[in-house]
Amino acid sequence: MNIFIFSGGDSESSKTNYYMKWLCKRLCNEGNIVFFRSLFDDILSGKLKKNRLAIENEIIGSDIVIFCCPVHLHNVSSTTKEFLDLFVEWSHTLRLTGILGVVVTVSSSNGNQSVNKYLHKVLNYFGVTVLGNLSINHTMEEEKVKNKLYDFVNLAKDLDKSQIKVEKRQDEIFLLYKEWYETNRNFTESERKSLENIGINVAKDFQELFNLNLKSYRYIKKLD
Ligand SMILES: Cc1cc2nc3c(=O)[nH]c(=O)nc-3n(C[C@H](O)[C@H](O)[C@H](O)COP(=O)(O)O)c2cc1C
Repeated sequence: MNIFIFSGGDSESSKTNYYMKWLCKRLCNEGNIVFFRSLFDDILSGKLKKNRLAIENEIIGSDIVIFCCPVHLHNVSSTTKEFLDLFVEWSHTLRLTGILGVVVTVSSSNGNQSVNKYLHKVLNYFGVTVLGNLSINHTMEEEKVKNKLYDFVNLAKDLDKSQIKVEKRQDEIFLLYKEWYETNRNFTESERKSLENIGINVAKDFQELFNLNLKSYRYIKKLD
């Protein structure tokens, strides 16, 4: 199984990165292909923008995306927001349709809920079907956090994708975009093309679009 992990920690001592690196290692040891991106590595080395297309292809080539982010003032960290902003186009093109998602947030004590909610919403706008949210804080025992994380991701891995029911919000977004698409409103030419590539003109609802975009059918852009 291909899994993409976004780890939003941007310091060397980040707990977000610590837990995600642990998870990455465990999933790799089990034979999964894991694409791992931490903001500490990509932002500090100045590679985030340069690697945009490579990251896009890693995400699009995955069955599951795990988005893990530190809680900063009850919000996503500014560098996580910078990462999400790089892919704003996806919020108009439902580019990640057919991919399952898991949201994880790490705080010292509180504020996870609002960040979970926000990340869940953004991922839905990108087209991701989110299976659940997990909140971690410093009061939790490390071994328990690791077990919870692993069980949570395993649950997602074991699902039969052809049986997944998409979320209500995804259907609402889809119907709005389909109306805009059919009445030629609000989208640029390139957004219309992307929507056509994922099948907006053939699917009648988001469930159909999801089924059309299970991995084998997803198209990827060529790297230079
Ligand atoms: C600017 C900033 C704001 C923060 N705001 C919160 C907060 O609202 N609630 C909280 O419980 N922890 C807060 N924290 C602590 C982090 O959530 C905590 O360190 C956690 O481990 C995630 O960050 P890390 O991956 O860098 O370790 C904040 C930390 C920073 C640097």
